[in-house]
Amino acid sequence: MRIDVVTLFPEMFQGFLEGSLLGAAQAAGLVDIRLTNIRDFAQGPHRQVDDKPYGGGPGMLLMPGPVVECVESVLADAPPSLAASKPHVLMLTPAGRPLTQELVEELARHDRLVLLCGRYEGFDQRVTDTLKPEAISIGDYVLSGGEVAAMVVIEAVTRLIPGVLGDAASADDDSFSGVDRLVEGPQYTRPREFRGLRVPEVLLSGDHRRIADWRREQALSATQRRDRSPVGSDSDLP
Ligand code: ADE
Repeated sequence: MRIDVVTLFPEMFQGFLEGSLLGAAQAAGLVDIRLTNIRDFAQGPHRQVDDKPYGGGPGMLLMPGPVVECVESVLADAPPSLAASKPHVLMLTPAGRPLTQELVEELARHDRLVLLCGRYEGFDQRVTDTLKPEAISIGDYVLSGGEVAAMVVIEAVTRLIPGVLGDAASADDDSFSGVDRLVEGPQYTRPREFRGLRVPEVLLSGDHRRIADWRREQALSATQRRDRSPVGSDSDLP
């Protein structure tokens, strides 16, 4: 898979991309991640990329020219192995489709992703009108830019590429994976007892059927507990 990141702050990705899982996946040729700086496509002596919004309002918007030209240049750079693949362009924005494991699985089926990171108050609308990206949000809160959100997408997608995780089965066992998308229940390792807290007897029983049943029950109750939202839910009403 090829992932291109279009950003004003490529340096934010350096340590992240060299980290163990992503570093190894890139070294093994399983994913090719490239960074392109929007400012390289800016005009004028000041290489301006942002400006005040028409009609007034706070903050600055990313201008359409440098952003669109940057993405178009990235799209034009298709290695022969990906020449037939249509790149999927994503825009990271709190107004986008919420990122779930289901969406991550969908993204992982593409051969090529282009992640467009915003800064300031957002993009001029003509960026969206021209590039028609899929807008994605990593949650209902506002970050100062799309870079951290892009890292979330990269990490979640990359671990689904076959061969990236050491144990091929482990992505299937993750929380939110599998048909019913349960979160994982509790897990234990040595010692058998820690500060008076014992590992549940069933896990030491060697009875694989009972262990699987227990794990499923635990996953079901962990999922129920999580879905019972503590604030603003119907359960708060009198
Ligand atoms: N950019 C700023 N906030 C964001 C969010 N919550 N998700 C994705 N991109 C963002």
